[in-house]
Amino acid sequence: MRKTRSYKILAVLLFIVIGLSACFQSEVRPYSITDSKTYEASLFRQNCTICHGPEAEGKTLADGRVIPNLRQGDFKYRTDEQIYSHIADGGNGMMPFRKMLTPREINLLVALVQRDLRGQK
Ligand code: HEC
Repeated sequence: MRKTRSYKILAVLLFIVIGLSACFQSEVRPYSITDSKTYEASLFRQNCTICHGPEAEGKTLADGRVIPNLRQGDFKYRTDEQIYSHIADGGNGMMPFRKMLTPREINLLVALVQRDLRGQK
């Protein structure tokens, strides 16, 4: 009798612990470009992943070019305007996207960088 009750308590406690850890996991899980269904995430996958990596974590290309992490680090471009012009005009190893993407699409990518990757707004 006593034994079954303590097993029950143990089972309940186990459920609470598992439930709580599931909650915390979903809370701290970072934004994922590969999992996202938004249009801007698919734009990123098509145009930017090749250099910046699937989760914008950055990498060093075969030719030695160092591609920055867009999520963390000392950002060179911080305002929406600076990021917009960098995507549109390129520079320092990044190609210009002005002819490949519409202004609306570039703005969506600026928002993805600021909001989803850097958590700025
Ligand atoms: C050909 C490789 C390449 C592609 C493709 C590319 N980038 Fe870049 N990106 C770079 C390099 C190299 C830099 C560093 C430029 C510098 O230091 O000024 C950079 C820098 C950036 C930065 C500035 C990071 C900072 O420090 O503030 C942003 C934002 C960015 N890229 C976004 C994008 C987006 C969005 C796309 C897709 C539309 C893209 N990039 C596609 C190579 C690339």
